[in-house]
Amino acid sequence: MVQNEDGRLKARALEVIPNGLYGHLSVKMQSPRTPQYYKRAKGAYLWDYDDNQYIDYLCAFGPNLFGYGHDEIDAAYIEQLREIDTATGPSVRMVELAEAYADQVSHCDWTMFCKNGTDATTMALMTARAYREKRKILIATGAYHGATKWCTPMPEGTVTEDHAHHIYYEYNNAQSLRRAVEEAGDDLAGVFATPFKHEVIHPQQLPDEEYARTARQLCDEKDALLILDDVRAGFRLDRDCSWEKIGVRPDLSSWGKTLANGHPLSCLMGSDRAREAAGKIFVTGSFWFGAAAMAAGLKTLELIRTTDYIERTIMLGDRLRDGLEQVSKETGIIIDQTGPSQMPLIMINDDDGNRNMPACVAFCDGLLDHGVFFHPFHNMFITPAMSEDDIDRTIDGCHAVAKKLPSIPMPEVAL
Ligand SMILES: Cc1ncc(COP(=O)(O)O)c(C=O)c1O
Repeated sequence: MVQNEDGRLKARALEVIPNGLYGHLSVKMQSPRTPQYYKRAKGAYLWDYDDNQYIDYLCAFGPNLFGYGHDEIDAAYIEQLREIDTATGPSVRMVELAEAYADQVSHCDWTMFCKNGTDATTMALMTARAYREKRKILIATGAYHGATKWCTPMPEGTVTEDHAHHIYYEYNNAQSLRRAVEEAGDDLAGVFATPFKHEVIHPQQLPDEEYARTARQLCDEKDALLILDDVRAGFRLDRDCSWEKIGVRPDLSSWGKTLANGHPLSCLMGSDRAREAAGKIFVTGSFWFGAAAMAAGLKTLELIRTTDYIERTIMLGDRLRDGLEQVSKETGIIIDQTGPSQMPLIMINDDDGNRNMPACVAFCDGLLDHGVFFHPFHNMFITPAMSEDDIDRTIDGCHAVAKKLPSIPMPEVAL
């Protein structure tokens, strides 16, 4: 793997961008060889500025649902862009897309569009508070709901008052949720949940049905709103809201990432129960009503409805999971795989079952030489644009790196 231009870009960026980059795309906690800048993306692949090609298991941290640069979706985007995009008012695409989501997502009677997942979760929080003019918001400890002052995982730039009315509970623990509801007393506005536990480093957990049903029941008893944060998992687990299969319908759901296959679009969906409250809050943004991303969203939804993309991502994810189990058996390296196979968290554990962070970083670093981009501690994503051959090449790369791992000097890790 050649690495000259990316290094030069990182150095230039350090001069003009704080820390060279910020937020979740920053590679500062990965190996120093991890490319930071990319010049091309198509299908399942990324190319860096040194012309190295990677099978990309991050999928832009989620937005790449059908493959980068999807011809039909991009054509819809470009056609709309030529007609009208950001303007003094929205286009008919906004009404069409809200109608389409009301048809597609069982709990959805209305939609409010925005640009980032954080906009959508923030609108959910405000709607829940506006609903009965209550303040307390229940959040699972460690859950990520975005990066603004009420939810950013880092304290810098925030004050404790930003979290003054948050009460934390343990994900998948109905007892803990009950205790948090009791603590909120008569002031409970809403309960946030992610479709499954998908925070960094920790093993992912599928939702416990009793926990999900308890969340619904407690919100009904207390006349508070249940919010499902589907920003990361939305349309990857189901063609409906992610808890539909377990029979739990939220009042509000926040969406983003996949909605327009990489074009900037997110939204809050809600049921009639929350409609009046959603109508009271003042929320907006200069770019929220742009028609091009909505046209891409309509085409993406058409593909969600008419293709076997979920079944294919599960098949590919299972193939990877089975292959890595075999690698683990053959090399003795403990590869811990958790979560749905189409959104796997893949990490290296030591013999005591603890995360071996240096080994995770070294593993991903080694895979770069095999043209595979893995993340050392964030869940990854499978796209149907990957081929069976991509998966098999990945497994072969993992085998080669795992075999070498005990003899590689371990990197220093700042986690
Ligand atoms: C569950 C969840 N909620 C909210 C967000 C925030 O989305 P965005 O980065 O688009 O603001 C994310 C982003 O990763 C997420 O995973």
